[in-house]
Amino acid sequence: MSNIGSYEERLPGFDWAIAKETLGWQDGELLNIGHMATDRICAQGKAEKTALIWEGFGDAKKTYTFDDMRVITNGYARFLQEVGVQPGDRVCIFMDKSPSLYQSFLGTLKMGAVAQPLFSAFGDDSLEVRLASAGTRAIVTTQKHVKKVRKIQERLPELKHVIVVEGNPAKLREGELFFDVEAAPRVENFESYKTDENSPSVLHYTSGTTGQPKGAQHAHGSVWGQALTSSWVLDLQDDDVYWCTADPGWVTGTSYGIIGPWVLGVTQCVLDVGFTSARWYKFLQDNKVTIWYSAPTAIRSLMRDGTDLVKQYDLKHLRNLCSVGEPLNAEAVVWSEEAFGRPFLDTFWQTETGAMMITNYPGMKVKPGSMGKPFPGIEAAVLDLKTHVPHTEPGKVGLIAFRPGWPAMFRTYRGQEDVYRSKFFGADENEKPEELRKNTNLWYVSGDRASIDADGYYWFVGRDDDVINTGGHLVGPFEIESALIEHEAIAEAAVVGKPDKVNMEVVKAFVTLNPGFDFDDMMELSVMNFIRKSLSPLAMPQEIEVMEKLPKTRSGKILRRYLKALEWGEDVGDLSTLEDD
Ligand code: PRX
Repeated sequence: MSNIGSYEERLPGFDWAIAKETLGWQDGELLNIGHMATDRICAQGKAEKTALIWEGFGDAKKTYTFDDMRVITNGYARFLQEVGVQPGDRVCIFMDKSPSLYQSFLGTLKMGAVAQPLFSAFGDDSLEVRLASAGTRAIVTTQKHVKKVRKIQERLPELKHVIVVEGNPAKLREGELFFDVEAAPRVENFESYKTDENSPSVLHYTSGTTGQPKGAQHAHGSVWGQALTSSWVLDLQDDDVYWCTADPGWVTGTSYGIIGPWVLGVTQCVLDVGFTSARWYKFLQDNKVTIWYSAPTAIRSLMRDGTDLVKQYDLKHLRNLCSVGEPLNAEAVVWSEEAFGRPFLDTFWQTETGAMMITNYPGMKVKPGSMGKPFPGIEAAVLDLKTHVPHTEPGKVGLIAFRPGWPAMFRTYRGQEDVYRSKFFGADENEKPEELRKNTNLWYVSGDRASIDADGYYWFVGRDDDVINTGGHLVGPFEIESALIEHEAIAEAAVVGKPDKVNMEVVKAFVTLNPGFDFDDMMELSVMNFIRKSLSPLAMPQEIEVMEKLPKTRSGKILRRYLKALEWGEDVGDLSTLEDD
């Protein structure tokens, strides 16, 4: 029997208090995610239960019990405190998916600071923008990645502590701190900071259409949403072995790769090597994974390698498969039934929502290609594109919107209250983030389009803005365009998503050149590498097209939508606003 039982029966009279019941929570207990994911589980008699199974390159494998995690996270928390990090300070976690990432993340939360995980493939520009915006006080990284920090450190006056937790201490520079938690004295007891549901917890940067990335600030109260969805959608149960393939640099990797499963006391596996289908299947097999949360791009890549490969592995333990991040095409759902004997359940949510919003449920009929139905307690709608009134007729395309107030909802965009406000239709210009969050007369608008069928199932249509979703990762065109024009050859740039069979979209750049530059293969490679190194491999254009002139409005704004429509073979629409020759 699945945890949710019947979706329909969970709807009437739903109250988020059921999340507390699910965790056996008593009023007055300490609401601190770091504490709840470690000490609290140990206190439930699960100290010796495996919390983390980690595999890296070669035969590297490490296993940690909940008690190991408790003591190690205590060590991080104490160290940060001793260094002078204060509750509320931002601590960036910048490393590959090694155990230290998970442990320093929870240690940061334990001592009351805000964990700001960043994807380790980010180059120095991507890093700088996000550290500057967050006013980050400390960065926890490894010798492998510290070089990028060194390049930008001088321009970040608020960054006081560079802490290296893996590598060779002899290679550090003056002022950098080395911390080896496993060699340091055990910290048996640490009193976690008394956070409450409104205390800031995790800061995730996400890309929008305009401007640089925005920091979605979450609070410790998110745990109720993350725990209940982990229970009802992922169907995590006590004896499960769970694998979330996402990197904690992105929200899936924290909400469902750290918080949800561990506050439920579930064993998690982490694989810290590059993707190959065979390696993934071996990992599933060797660890007897029962619950698997992944993404459509990965599923499509597995699909490309065929069903015969799957059949060479013993994957009979798999009990529930879920997917997030991009549209899960019907073929992939049908294929997963053939390959694994069960469908991937599509789940829809965002960095901002902090937890799943529209999803399929174990036991509910899956319509391949549909995202499913709103989670109990979530009031969702699709709003008319012009009037912003909810559609009542099935099949009409509109904007996906939610009534504010669910527990995992982001609390603001750091330092950008006005942008936060702009996400709520009907908001008053004086309303503060904490008011907006509780105002159930408003709609929080996701920035995506969908329709709802006669049975109440949601069908994703596409984004309502220019943000590019490549392999389940959002990249902002503005950030890439700004980086492109830093290259000596490039005068102007416009960046759009181009269709791709596996990644759904890849980045394509249209550019004009500065006088005296020719665009040959070498130049193209130089520009691609420039972006890969300064931003990230995700942001690197897969194609660069040189134009004489970029299409613009009369006021000089580059018309990305026009270029995008060309790429997608769509009607380019009304060109009357284009600049005259
Ligand atoms: O466009 C939607 C897409 O990913 C966006 C959110 O991206 P991010 O904040 O990085 O969080 C990703 C993981 C939660 C959404 O606005 N998206 C997410 N899930 C789906 C999806 N698009 C289609 N189907 C989904 N299931």
